[in-house]
Order: sequence, then C-alpha cells, then structure tokens
Amino acid sequence: MTPLHEVIINNKTTINPVWIMRQAGRYLPEFREIRKENPNFIELCLNHKLSSEITLQPIKRFDFDAAIIFSDILMLPYGLNQKVDFKKNFGPTLGNLDIKSMSKIDEIDFVEKIYPVYKAIKSVSLEMNSKNKNTIGFVGAPWTLLVYMINQQSPKKNVKKDFFKDDFLINRILLLIEKFLKIHIKHQIENGANVIQIFDSWVGLLEERDYPNYIYTPTLNLVDYVKSLNVPVICFPREIRNYKEFVEIVKPDAINIDYNVDPLMICKNIKIPVQGGLDPKILLTDKENLKKETLKYLNIFKDHPYIFNLGHGILPETNPDMVEFLIKTVRDY
Ligand code: CP3
Repeated sequence: MTPLHEVIINNKTTINPVWIMRQAGRYLPEFREIRKENPNFIELCLNHKLSSEITLQPIKRFDFDAAIIFSDILMLPYGLNQKVDFKKNFGPTLGNLDIKSMSKIDEIDFVEKIYPVYKAIKSVSLEMNSKNKNTIGFVGAPWTLLVYMINQQSPKKNVKKDFFKDDFLINRILLLIEKFLKIHIKHQIENGANVIQIFDSWVGLLEERDYPNYIYTPTLNLVDYVKSLNVPVICFPREIRNYKEFVEIVKPDAINIDYNVDPLMICKNIKIPVQGGLDPKILLTDKENLKKETLKYLNIFKDHPYIFNLGHGILPETNPDMVEFLIKTVRDY
C-alpha cells in the first residue's frame, strides 16, 4: 500500500508521509526556467508534457511521498468557457459569467477543453505507481469556485457587495459547478489519481450561519461522490471556525488544517487522519526555528494518523534548501 493510503485508509500512526501544497511551483528554479518560456499559465497547464515534467520536478528533487498534479482549481471555469487569465503580481482574473451558455455545455465539451490535464495525470501516475507513491488529483470546493466565478478575481478580504443579491442565480451556478466537479473528479480518477483533495480556500469569508448552504451541503455531495469511486478524499476548508463540526457533518477521509488553528485542540477533538498545519512563513526563517516548529507538529500528532504538510501553499520566496531540511527533519523523526 502507498504511504498516504496507509495513513488515510489504515490509520497507521508510525509513518508520516510528506508532501507540500504548491510543491510544483515558483520556489523551484527548474520551474521558473520553464515558466519563463511559457508566459501563459493556462496554456502551460494544458501542455501535458510540460505539466507532467513540472509535477515530477519536486519528486525528483525531494522524493516527496505524493505528487499533486500541476494544474489549477480555475481549470473548472475555464472548461466551462469562462475566460481565465493569470496576470503577473495580481493573481487570476475571470471574464463575465454567462449562465445561459454555460448551461448548454456537456461533459464531452468540458473534457475536450481540458483533456491534457488527464493525460498528464496518466503519465505522472504511471511513474508514481512504479515508486509505490500517490498521485493526488484535486478540485476547488464549490464555494471557493463560486467566489472566483462571480467575483472575477481574488476576493482578498471581502466579496462584492451585491454578491448574494440573486439567490436563484447563485443556486443555479452552484449546481452547475457541482455537476462538472464530479465529472472532473471522475476523469482524474480514471486516469490514475488515487487520492482527491478538495481545496476550499475562502471559507473564511462566510458567517457560520452560511456554512450549511455553501460549505457543508455542496462539499458533502462531492465527498460522497469520491467515496463512491473508492478513492480517499482529503478536505481543506481553510480558516473554517469549527473543524470538528465540519468533520462530523462532511465526513472526509482526512482533514487538512490551516496554520491559525491550534493543533493540540485538533488532535484532541478530531479522530480522523490529519494533514498539514505548519505555517509556510516558518520556511522563510532559519533552520533551528524550522526544526522546532516541525517537531512541534510531529510531537503533537505522534499517536495520531498524520500526513506532514503545510497550513497553506509554499511561498514563492522559499529557499529550496529549507524544504530539503524540513523533509529530513520529518523523515529522521
Ligand atoms: O503543487 C501544487 O500544489 C499543484 C498545483 C496547484 C496550483 N494551484 C498551481 C498554481 C494547486 C493545487 C492550486 C490550487 C489553487 N489555485 C487554489 C487552492 C489553494 C490555495 O492556494 O488556496 C487556489 C485558490 C488557486 C487559484 C490561484 N491560482 C491563485 C489565487 C493564483 C495566483 C496567486 C499565486 O500564487 O500566484 C494561482 C496561480 C497558480 N496556481 C500558480 C501555481 C504554481 C502560480 C502561477 C505562476 O507561475 O505565476
């Protein structure tokens, strides 16, 4: 069995597999080299040769226990014909959302538009299977995708004032997102993804009273769907106020925690396997501090099924030597 499956499925507590969110990215000089020649981010994601190569870069360098496919959660609106651009130093911008024409798109249209992503998963998973390591497929959660699709850019702290004004429209979009997320998940699994992670990066924008509608119900539908395909699913409802309640209602196979939540409280209150937590900014300090903070998480979760990871994506300014040191600390533990 692969290391992640040992922890997530068998609840093994004696190993701590390690991978890092955004491990294939700008902190790696070999990624920046390719990126320089490929200014269009979406096109790069759709170049299956290069996206496979990028996905495997951090595996070659650090021997992580899992590869996460080099793609983006915004490939979903892209596949639904909403314009998506990545501007340097600004983040993503999206075009207008036309629900009428979006409703006419079928599975074949969608898959045709983004099929290189599945091709990349196929070749990466062959390589990872031969090493007995995992290939992680992923999607954005319905709420986070809704935020980008309506807000048309990162919401930073707030969504547009009139965000919720048209309830009916919002619910139609949510259902459409859910339908195509299932299609996207299915094709990732069919092509070799053997763990699925659901990223809900903008839970922090909501009041708790909105969780049932926008977080619990749509995420539960997806989690049940992934489970029906016999693949374990990890949820990351970043900055949710109550991880315990989320786990009890949504019942993912494992939960990724952010760096603002107290890991001791999590370990005490949550029985399912846990992933992540370390603040990515710690990697910008020094090795002594990095070791101290890494051991803090390892010690807290020493008798709990635990996958080592960060509490959010690795920062582009991170020195790869610090990542090397982090992995060594985890493996020597
Ligand atoms: O290694 C991996 O983790 C796999 C690839 C991956 C990317 N994006 C590549 C990427 C994954 C899993 C994502 C998820 C993603 N994308 C999320 C959820 C996780 C999170 O960060 O909260 C979100 C919200 C997005 C949307 C997105 N994509 C934003 C806001 C940005 C711009 C901000 C930034 O960091 O530049 C992106 C761009 C992006 N996605 C890059 C990468 C490597 C940087 C692209 C570049 O080279 O300029």
